[in-house]
Amino acid sequence: MADNIHPIFDQLISREEKESFLNQHSRMIWLTGLSGSGKSTIAKGLEKELFKRGFFVQVLDGDNIRTGICNNLGFSEEDRSENIRRIAEAAKLFIEAGVITICSFVSPTQKIRRIAQDIIGDKDHIGVFVDTPIEVCEQRDVKGLYKKARAGEIKNFTGIDAPFEIPANPNLIVKTANQSIEDSVNQVLAFVLPQITKK
Ligand code: ADX
Repeated sequence: MADNIHPIFDQLISREEKESFLNQHSRMIWLTGLSGSGKSTIAKGLEKELFKRGFFVQVLDGDNIRTGICNNLGFSEEDRSENIRRIAEAAKLFIEAGVITICSFVSPTQKIRRIAQDIIGDKDHIGVFVDTPIEVCEQRDVKGLYKKARAGEIKNFTGIDAPFEIPANPNLIVKTANQSIEDSVNQVLAFVLPQITKK
């Protein structure tokens, strides 16, 4: 099969030219953390702040993606891996188009996060651990999912009966329990700005 595929990547307008057009360096900002940890909130806030400063940004978010390109996937280890593989491949297309891409996914294990980072490449990958204790996530329970998981109505729920492994080497750790949303967004913003700004 692979013998019959002839990619034309090298014949297209280059990423560098697209980055120059957009006056930015494209990167992937990967937010990992429990459900309810604040990933989507930070992604939304960060997108706004970056856009305000003239950056061109795209957010890929768990609940959105799972209604579209990953709508045939569940929450087994295997399906989560495939979910993340597809997302990382999609994010790579955005990055190649010069777009700063914010990905907000539980991505609960080292192996799963490794899949994403290997597809994107270390140079373009900024790993952010949204480190919110499960007690806080459960108390927030914005979507009512922890209650359902405790009641046994949802199986394989991350943090309850499915694992969440603490990221080994995140580039940044955001502790949302101790600070405002604005502070969390500003913390990520300050970290990424030097990496995406063209000199
Ligand atoms: S991941 O594990 O494959 O990275 P993803 O980020 O796409 O997960 O989706 C997680 C979202 O799906 C959660 O924010 C939550 O709203 C919802 N969800 C539904 N069932 C589960 C489950 N069993 N475990 C985790 N999240 C779930």
